[in-house]
Amino acid sequence: MEGPEGAGKSTNREYLAQRLRDRGLDVVMTREPGGTPLAERIRDLLLTPADEAMTSDTELLLVFAARAQHLAQVIRPALARGAVVLCDRFTDATYAYQGGGRGLSFQRIEQLEFFVQGGMRPDLTLIFDLPVEIGLSRAAARGRLDRFEQEGLAFFETVRSTYLDRARQVPQRYRVIDAGQSLTAVQQDLDRLLPEVLERALG
Ligand SMILES: Nc1ncnc2c1ncn2[C@@H]1O[C@H](COP(=O)(O)OP(=O)(O)OP(=O)(O)O)[C@@H](O)[C@H]1O
Ligand SMILES: [Mg+2]
Repeated sequence: MEGPEGAGKSTNREYLAQRLRDRGLDVVMTREPGGTPLAERIRDLLLTPADEAMTSDTELLLVFAARAQHLAQVIRPALARGAVVLCDRFTDATYAYQGGGRGLSFQRIEQLEFFVQGGMRPDLTLIFDLPVEIGLSRAAARGRLDRFEQEGLAFFETVRSTYLDRARQVPQRYRVIDAGQSLTAVQQDLDRLLPEVLERALG
């Protein structure tokens, strides 16, 4: 599950996990950056505002360091036992935030993706898309802003357009959900997508 700040990924992941469990699937719900105790410590480094500015390269390497840990400890073991992994953010977020937002080279990100993941890619990626202002106001209503949420509108416009570009380039792997709708309407869309999600999860 991907998308910018305040899109509703975390709000809807339990809903989607439950729909899949209702169909008898073993679902592991997790998130990035994080998903293991060590990777959650890296998440803290990434999200907590600090006096020392973090370079974009440091940020990129920390994201992939957390991912390496998460893959080894959680994702690969879950897939090996036949579970379905439902992840709140993954490598598309790296392309969107560190590539689009920070302006790092997509080619460099591809190299790290291959280094850390080999050929492993999500079977299906749901992009929760919404106007940047709405997402940020939702995130702001949630409380104190994290290190990314303190970025300006231009940063998030690029994050959003990078997600949408990726979805356009590889349409088989992405479904875009209008996350600016009411929660009920978003969940109706998730219900409509459920057959496809199941097909990919089982395939
Ligand atoms: N469709 C919706 N309509 C109105 N409010 C919503 C909707 N979906 C989620 N919200 C609210 O918006 C806020 C942000 O939602 P949520 O935390 O799920 O976003 P997120 O995509 O996980 O964001 P982040 O990337 O910052 O983790 C929450 O307070 C949530 O209750
Ligand atoms: Mg969230």
